[in-house]
Amino acid sequence: MPHALHAVRGEILHFLADPADRSDALVHFPDGLLLIENGHIAALGPAPAMLATLPPELPVTDHRGKLILPGFVDTHVHYAQTDIIASHGEQLLAWLERYTFPAEARFADPAHAAEVAAFFCDELLRNGTTTALAFATVHPASVDALLSAAHARRMRMIAGKVLMDRNCPPALRDTAHGGYAASKALIERWHGTGRLGYAVTPRFAPTSSDAQMRLAGQLYAEYPDLHLQSHVAENRSEVAWAAQLYPTARSYLDVYEGFGQLGPRTVFAHCIWLDDADRARMAATGAAISFCPTSNLFLGSGLFDLDRAHAQGVRVGIGTDVGGGTSFSMLQTLNEAYKVLQLNGQHLSPERAFYLATLGGARSLYLDHRIGNFAPGKEADFVVLDPAATPLLARRALAGTLAERLFVLMMLGDDRCIAATHILGEPAWTR
Ligand code: GUN
Ligand code: ZN
Repeated sequence: MPHALHAVRGEILHFLADPADRSDALVHFPDGLLLIENGHIAALGPAPAMLATLPPELPVTDHRGKLILPGFVDTHVHYAQTDIIASHGEQLLAWLERYTFPAEARFADPAHAAEVAAFFCDELLRNGTTTALAFATVHPASVDALLSAAHARRMRMIAGKVLMDRNCPPALRDTAHGGYAASKALIERWHGTGRLGYAVTPRFAPTSSDAQMRLAGQLYAEYPDLHLQSHVAENRSEVAWAAQLYPTARSYLDVYEGFGQLGPRTVFAHCIWLDDADRARMAATGAAISFCPTSNLFLGSGLFDLDRAHAQGVRVGIGTDVGGGTSFSMLQTLNEAYKVLQLNGQHLSPERAFYLATLGGARSLYLDHRIGNFAPGKEADFVVLDPAATPLLARRALAGTLAERLFVLMMLGDDRCIAATHILGEPAWTR
């Protein structure tokens, strides 16, 4: 039974800003109380002081000893690649041909799509992820399967049918006008239903014709609050291929801009091989980057330049990019983000890492008026983290400053640390 008014107690933290911009961005209550009314945040503060003013019969779930954070936001993931996670031996273009396209072809079967969608949504919840921007496949019914599964779990999910009309197997090919019409029907069916949204989803410029790219940009402009998602500048062979296919564009990113695909609520995965002019265009238009470290290491794609993106004012969120990425866990993804940045001579503080996984992701998706932290009125999606979930964590995690404890959690933690995931205040998954 959902409670109209209830509370959770524990060590609570969230962000009001990017810790790289403001020293007071992180808000922390060692013994905090989160008051929830009808699935939304009513108040947050120190537990003893708040409890003294609240009715004694208020139901309070006691998570003392655990950390309560806003639910994680995965800004780039492919649900249809769940079953090819950890496929050996290839870089991007060969990996697409050998593993990805055959796996996506199976989604012509709606029963297969429904089974994978249910597993995928449960796996997100098991990992503390409450919001995702996801690719489906070229098949419209694959979007129905994912959005139905997310709706049943009350998750925030934005997804789209892949647009792909060239350079791919015939079984996965749509047409410029057919893909546009199918996307439009899905928008009418799903966009704005409960917590669901639609994202226009050209896979990447090499698999769409000029006509399809133009119609994708047109569709994004036709509705005021649609998302658009794609991939750009991930792998050097891919960048060279895009340059061949679009010889008049200034850069690979410029292809998307030329077709009207840069703007608010557009999210581009990877963005490794961009230049300053590209990043300036993303910042000026409001387009966001999804940094996908496990994928970038696994596929040998390259090292993302977070400092440059930040200095140029581009929005950045974190993506697991399953199945190019190797984990559904946002904690494991932060672990590899730290290492990618080490290899690039850059430093990711634990505070910044958890900001990127929560409010940073919400800002990248332009959803920070609804989710991303515990500001009053926001949707009460949160994760309860067990800092002593394993014997090693129990030895390493219990002492030290908050920053030290957060760092240990992101380096050693994974799904075993997710004690519970709450959606709109109610438990959606419990360990
Ligand atoms: N570029 C185009 N398609 C894909 C995909 O499915 N995964 C990744 N990582 N990159 C892509
Ligand atoms: Zn991807």
